[in-house]
Order: sequence, then structure tokens, then C-alpha cells
Amino acid sequence: MNIIEIIEKKKQNNALSEAEIAFFIDGICDGTVADYQASALLMAICLNGMNAAETAVLTDKMAHSGDMLDLSSLSPTADKHSTGGVGDKTSLIVAPVAAACGVNIAKMSGRGLGHTGGTIDKLESIPGFNTGLSDTAFFEQVKHIGIAIISQSKNMVPADKILYALRDVTATVNSIPLIASSIMSKKLAAGADIIELDVKTGSGAFMKTPEDAAALAKAMVNIGKANGKKTAALITDMDTPLGTHIGNNLEIKEVLAVLHGDGPKDLKTLCLALATNIISLSRGCAKEEAAHLAETALASGAAYEKFKQMVAAQGGDVRYIENPALFPETALAVEVCAPQPGYIAKMDAENIGKTAALLGAGREKIEDSIDMSAGIVLHAKTGDFVKEGAPLATLYTNRETVKSVSCEQFLNAVSFSDTPPQKRALIMGEVT
Ligand code: URA
Repeated sequence: MNIIEIIEKKKQNNALSEAEIAFFIDGICDGTVADYQASALLMAICLNGMNAAETAVLTDKMAHSGDMLDLSSLSPTADKHSTGGVGDKTSLIVAPVAAACGVNIAKMSGRGLGHTGGTIDKLESIPGFNTGLSDTAFFEQVKHIGIAIISQSKNMVPADKILYALRDVTATVNSIPLIASSIMSKKLAAGADIIELDVKTGSGAFMKTPEDAAALAKAMVNIGKANGKKTAALITDMDTPLGTHIGNNLEIKEVLAVLHGDGPKDLKTLCLALATNIISLSRGCAKEEAAHLAETALASGAAYEKFKQMVAAQGGDVRYIENPALFPETALAVEVCAPQPGYIAKMDAENIGKTAALLGAGREKIEDSIDMSAGIVLHAKTGDFVKEGAPLATLYTNRETVKSVSCEQFLNAVSFSDTPPQKRALIMGEVT
């Protein structure tokens, strides 16, 4: 077997065997397959796709390229993953709600990149919060308090690190089998029995259309099931930012509002739907019963207490959780007002995410540093009617130089109409 024949086979649109996929993954990890050969195969996969069996094998081989966490003695454990978006802080609400209902949440998360935010950055905006627990400490915390959220440990899924870096520079990110195997290999290595997926669609998402999002959701659910995991997915809107707060400590403040029973309706509705699915899969109970448990955990304050317990266990300063006014604020707070009256027809999530990054809340490259206090608070959202001069958003930054360009960029992301826009559903579909 050699890599040239494997590339040729995929170029001719034929399915690869398990042995050929294993040869490829082993080869990129031990250096016997060169980057240019891996890139050629990635492009052939991108153009010709992979069937369900090939995608499942690719995921399994990637997952086993590094450490696999064994959480079996804590079974059942649950993990939740979003394909990424703007203002998406659902994990920080869903996890404590489900944990307060007795589900063991063992979650590994990522950092923000480009226009999207990341759960790990948001948690690290809480002074002292340690996202780098050892596997043993992670395991012990889940055992004792039923919840831990940490960053992916270093030796997990090295094959994905190599492939993702190549995809990023060879225009091969946008492929359903490659995205599905990249995400699911990390979920399989992280060891949970239940995987709840939130597949986003819209301007701020990888998948721009609901059809592509549904195809990705199906591919990931199939991989999960083929690997013995209880897996389900919601397909949800990311055309407009989720909730009203975008940026790291701003999003923690919004999480706390929801955990106190306040906060925006879209965010709360989505979190309850995701938590309901996790509880139902974990307890094997009907959705109605799971939904009741989730709502009670939120309304009673049990989910808030669980969040606080997690922050304390991971070294975070709980005074900030008890009193969010302690979080530092930026030197500048700039109000952006409506230039005309009308309905907000669109608030382009991707460009609003890019504006938040410009203000300091996000990063271009993974090694860039971020400003935990920077970001955006929206005062109106898609579908709202605003008068001329009404506040649309406040932009928070410590960068004097980006003040005017970020206001301009924000306004370019917003369009107005004389009639109410057609409403997009928040939850567009489900794959079980
Ligand atoms: N997130 C991932 O982890 N991998 C992809 O390929 C896309 C999004």
C-alpha cells in the first residue's frame, strides 16, 4: 500500500478501505506521509466526499491517534458540543442545569477563533478559573460534584491538530466528512457516553444553510452511534447572535442572569432544549419529564449553585459569581444608534463576531491574546422595530484606535426594512 495509490483512489471517487484510512492517519502522525500528500488527499475528500462507513473509520482512527479518556466508572457521563457561533454561551448554562439534575457532565471545550467565541476563554475570564486540570483531577471533580469543564488535554487527537492546520491553509475546511470526523474524534477521545450536538446554521456558522447543517448533524450522529455513544443533535439558528452579550466576561454576566431566572428568551429556550435532550438520554426518560426537571433546576437556583460549585472547584473566585459587578470593565463604552427608523431585518452574526474580535474580544490566530472585558451588548435584535437614534448596541473596548471603525463595521452588519422580516425558527430541526 502506498499513499499515492490512496490519493489516486479518492481522486477517482472510490471509497477507501479501513486499512487505507489507517495507513493515512498513521502516516501523518509518524511523518511518513508528507504534508503535501496529506493535503492532496484532503482536497480529494473535500471534492468527492466520503460515505458513512469511511467517515466512521476516519473518525475512529483519528480518535485513537492519541490519548483516549476512560470515564466508564463514572457512567453515564454526558458531553455537549456546539459547532460554534457568536454569543453562544449555552454550554455554561446547559452543563450546570443537567448536572443539577444528576447527570455527570464531563466536558472538554475549545478556545475562540476568528469571529466565534470559545467556552474556555469565557471561563478563564473568571479570575483564578483553571481550565487545565489533569485527567485525574478532571475525573475526580466529575466524581465528586458531577461537573467539570476543561480544555482538551495536550495528547488528545494529534491527527486532528495536523489535519486541521493543513485544512486551514488548503481551502479544505468546508467538507462535511472532514468537519464531522474532526469534531467527533475529539468527542470520542474525551470519553463521555452521551453526546449532545448543537449544529448551527446561518451567517455566523460554518454551515450556511439548514440543509448543510442537517447533513453535518446526521453525519455526526451516525459516527456517535457507530461508536456506541448515545448521540443526538439540534439544528439551530446562528444567523443572528445568540442572546445579547458577546465577549468573554460579558457572556459570563449573561450566563449568571439566565441562571438567576432572567436573561434573553432565545438563549434560555435553547439551553433548556439542549439540557432536556441530555437529561432524557441520560435517565432514559420521556422528553416531557426531562424538560420539567431542567426547568425546575433553573427556576429553583440549583443550576446556579452547581455553576458556583464548579467555579470554586476549579479555583475560580466565587465573589465574581456572587457579584458580577466586580468583573472589570473596559475604558471605553461606545453606544451605536440606529441611523434610520425601521425593523431590524438582519444582524449579520459573522460580521458582529468580527466586530467583537476587533474590539479585543477575539483572536485571529490561536496564539493571540484577548481582552476579557471587550465585546458588545445588543440593545435590539433582528425583528425589533427601532426609532432613528435608538441605541442598537454598546461596544466595549480598551482600544481607542478601533472606536470609529468598529462602529462602522457594526452598522454595516445591520440592515433595516419598513416591514417586519420573516422570522427564522431558533430550533430548526433535530436528529436523534
Ligand atoms: N470544529 C472542529 O473542531 N473541526 C472542524 O473541522 C470544524 C469545526
